[in-house]
Amino acid sequence: MSFEKNILCIGAGYVGGPTMAMIAYKCPRYRVTVVDIDPERIAQWNSDDLPIYEPGLDEVVKAARGKNLFFSTEVETGIRESEIIFVSVNTPTKTFGAGAGMAADLQYWDKTARQIRKYSKSNKIIVEKSTLPVKTAQAMERILTSADNGIRFDVLSNPEFLAEGTAIRDLEDPDRVLIGSTQTPNGLKARDVLVEIYSNWIRGERIITSNIWSSELSKLVANAFLAQRISSINSISALCEKADADVEEVARAVGMDSRVGNKFLNASVGFGGSCFKKDILNLVYLCRYYDLKEVADYWEGVVRINDYQKERFILNMLNVMFNTLANKRICLFGFAFKADTGDTRESPAIFAAKRLIEERASVVITDPKALKNAMKDLRDVAGELSYVEDPYEASAGCSAIAVMTEWAIYADLDYKKIYRSMAKPAFIFDGRNILDHEKLFEIGFNVFPIGKPGLTHF
Ligand SMILES: NC(=O)c1ccc[n+]([C@@H]2O[C@H](COP(=O)([O-])OP(=O)(O)OC[C@H]3O[C@@H](n4cnc5c(N)ncnc54)[C@H](O)[C@@H]3O)[C@@H](O)[C@H]2O)c1
Repeated sequence: MSFEKNILCIGAGYVGGPTMAMIAYKCPRYRVTVVDIDPERIAQWNSDDLPIYEPGLDEVVKAARGKNLFFSTEVETGIRESEIIFVSVNTPTKTFGAGAGMAADLQYWDKTARQIRKYSKSNKIIVEKSTLPVKTAQAMERILTSADNGIRFDVLSNPEFLAEGTAIRDLEDPDRVLIGSTQTPNGLKARDVLVEIYSNWIRGERIITSNIWSSELSKLVANAFLAQRISSINSISALCEKADADVEEVARAVGMDSRVGNKFLNASVGFGGSCFKKDILNLVYLCRYYDLKEVADYWEGVVRINDYQKERFILNMLNVMFNTLANKRICLFGFAFKADTGDTRESPAIFAAKRLIEERASVVITDPKALKNAMKDLRDVAGELSYVEDPYEASAGCSAIAVMTEWAIYADLDYKKIYRSMAKPAFIFDGRNILDHEKLFEIGFNVFPIGKPGLTHF
């Protein structure tokens, strides 16, 4: 069967896999291939056990795979046979040299650009899907055109706004799709090709276009704004605990102002995920690079508050559990950085587990989807750590439970049964404010939510 377009995506991760599965699912006339250098990841994408957990993803992949959606390690063939190449490789924070701990590590990106240049035999549209520092498209264009082989490359910016846990819903019905291009006739022509792809299922007014630098920057700024809201409410949660106020009541009152809005105002143990911290630090680095010290300091504060909130949670546990956690069993309810994903990158639970081990506690971890990743994250940590899938079994014999992830199942457990099996006095630290605190207190627990007075029996 011949296809109308041949689309390639380089990088089969949390972004490349779901986004391409959705394009293939919505556009049976296009052939979509996703390649990766990691053969194990590709084998998983071709199996019944996909490499990532996302509600609804299995169905979308199964509907298109083998028909017009293919996963492969054949990067060279993929590049040669496609007209449009999405690049979704990872862009983590740099850990070495200039900008270490702040700037984006662009080595995977740079390598991909060189591969595209090497294997291309015809004109291509290159789409930046990875989150990148502003002006990366320019660097990419320079690498691509340096071969001077007469092949035309048009680079577009099309940042991905999906949120893990709701990726399929976000891809099917996005708030917006952003496409940035150069404003030249060729740039605009390439942009229109991408607009046409998304138009297969997304209404025109949701597809917005801009100049390429605005598009690159918008992704960093969107994540900075989202994380800023979390740090804002988390900073207020600390004050609420001192002032006997209730952060949920404050958030409700503030969020009902339509200028502010009520979303993303849940106080918690802190944000995690592979993007927020990395993208803010990247923004901070850019501001410093352009000598905008005040702007850089302002945004860096968002990350500082997040670190403070994570540490505050542990210090509160230490404080209320009689200033020692040594030899106490503490159960972490949830390890994923948020509910409905198995992703644990930058999860506050990693920090909590490590800090509790430092305090010589014995840590039991339970999570419905993230135990494999938790084991990888903590493999170098020396201390008493165990991993138990069943939350009842995990919490038995523990002195405390700390809710780290807002999995819905944790709100529906039989806490009477759990209380009976725990060491006394029994504590619950609700790092996500998802439990019924009064009810837990009545059962006998000492309860410590975020941003509200604790409920104690002594
Ligand atoms: N995870 C999210 O929720 C999210 C959301 C929006 C944007 N982003 C951005 O998207 C990008 C990808 O994120 P992710 O979470 O999918 O990362 P990921 O680590 O899950 O996936 C990246 C994949 O790229 C592959 N890769 C690296 N170099 C390659 C090469 N030269 N050739 C082929 N494959 C290569 C890796 O093996 C890996 O499988 C990042 O820039 C991230 O900031 C992520």
